Amino acid sequence: MTGIRQFPPGFLWGTSTSSHQVEGNNLGNDWWEYEQSGRVPHRSGRACNQYELFEVDFDLARSLGQNAHRFSLEWSRIEPAQGVWSDDALSHYAQVIHALKSRGLEPIVTLHHFTNPAWFSQRGGWVRQDSPRLFARYVAHTTRRLGHGVKYWLTMNEPTVYVVQGYVTGEWPPCLPSAWGRASLALINLARAHRLAYREVRRQCPDSMVGFAHSAPVIVPCDPTRARDRLAASLRDFLLNRAFFSMIGGRPWLRTRALDFIGLNYYSRTIVRSSGWGLQALLGRTCNEPHHQRGPLSDIGWEVHPAGLKAVLQRYARFGLPLLVSENGIATRDEGMRCDFIVRHLASLCGAIEDGVKVLGYCYWSLIDNFEWALGTKPRFGLIAVDYDTQQRVPRPCAALFAEVCRTNRLSEPDEPDAVS
Ligand code: FCB
Repeated sequence: MTGIRQFPPGFLWGTSTSSHQVEGNNLGNDWWEYEQSGRVPHRSGRACNQYELFEVDFDLARSLGQNAHRFSLEWSRIEPAQGVWSDDALSHYAQVIHALKSRGLEPIVTLHHFTNPAWFSQRGGWVRQDSPRLFARYVAHTTRRLGHGVKYWLTMNEPTVYVVQGYVTGEWPPCLPSAWGRASLALINLARAHRLAYREVRRQCPDSMVGFAHSAPVIVPCDPTRARDRLAASLRDFLLNRAFFSMIGGRPWLRTRALDFIGLNYYSRTIVRSSGWGLQALLGRTCNEPHHQRGPLSDIGWEVHPAGLKAVLQRYARFGLPLLVSENGIATRDEGMRCDFIVRHLASLCGAIEDGVKVLGYCYWSLIDNFEWALGTKPRFGLIAVDYDTQQRVPRPCAALFAEVCRTNRLSEPDEPDAVS
């Protein structure tokens, strides 16, 4: 049975990107340095050359019925050396914001999306005690210049993922695996940085709404009857889903406000299996064995689990703040699979809204194919395909499907909706 479902008036419909993944030639950040070191097999290079082609991309976004766009500012361009501010970079981002607004696209601006200026990393990055202050200074400088007219700010993207990748597995810069010591210090400093940045943005732009983008995976035990799988799943859930919220203030943040809304990046479900009771074992491994009712896997092995979006929205609604789906998407070369992914996730989103969850909008990841960190340009997340040799953009079939939803603010439900409760 098909049906039409309506989204709230004024719903934000858009896509997300990040500076290093699309701009190209971000010569001054730690990812660029990492890529040149040869320790990762891919280089961002020109990426999508969006630093020059942003108007082309925003024209496309507008032509696809979108009314919002999430992007990030590249700190290393704005502050290329400590305490040195680039007027060119700030003027560029002022033009970007203007280009969005003049096309009817509400800017949602992220201040930190995984990359740091090389000078910041070289002096010790996020484990340095003064790192939050340096970040807050960049935020103050930037919002003083760009704040006017931007309503939605995200201080940072997925701080927990950043710390896990950079300081636990060490697969991303600064590549310092350390289980607890450095990792917890970095997370504490990111939490302090968020609080300081929150205050700065609110000071410069009193009418804005400030949050951060949180990676919110659904985490379940491989075998719910095995105590150690259950414990492993709750431990991982605590670390990935709850720890950062406690650090930015837990309950007291209701008094000293540090969030006006929560950005949620939802992609997939993780099934956790533990081989023992020791901490390393409990931190567990992701179980990739076949599971009952397991969804299909994307090109990069992420399970498609639409019901998780509703569950995640319901869970975070308990904070009593508006939510924004700041990322949701799939890496696939199969357009049928992408279309199905989008429709089923939007149906799940609808379910949460119908249950009373206040959601401001939905941003698909991503507008265009882009540089997917250590995986390079192979994963194809874009509504729009990018030919990296010619920089040509070609909207994929799903872009039209998504455009229909954006334009009408309605969704035609799939024939066999996923069980979303
Ligand atoms: C998210 C990141 C984003 C992109 C997508 C696929 O975790 O925020 O930069 O890599 O995954």
